[in-house]
Amino acid sequence: MLRLDIPGLPPLAAFNVEDEVYCTSNLCTHNFALLTDGFLDGDEIECPLHGGCFSVRTGAALNFPCETPIRTYPVTAIGEDLYIEVE
Ligand code: FES
Repeated sequence: MLRLDIPGLPPLAAFNVEDEVYCTSNLCTHNFALLTDGFLDGDEIECPLHGGCFSVRTGAALNFPCETPIRTYPVTAIGEDLYIEVE
């Protein structure tokens, strides 16, 4: 996983899951924590603070205490570059 701090954009994270790249918000929706400080297991990112999990594919909150999904962003990987669609 990769923390993306891009000026002018919200904190983003990119995840490589079985050679597919996904991009999400890097902020847990339960409290303030960077998901890239957590643990990636398959397509599930576990928050480092209280253990809530999200799907990096869909953004869905998967377990307590997380109930609100994280945002996901369309991303294309070309070579070593990532092209992320952010409104
Ligand atoms: S801050 Fe992420 S689960 Fe609580």
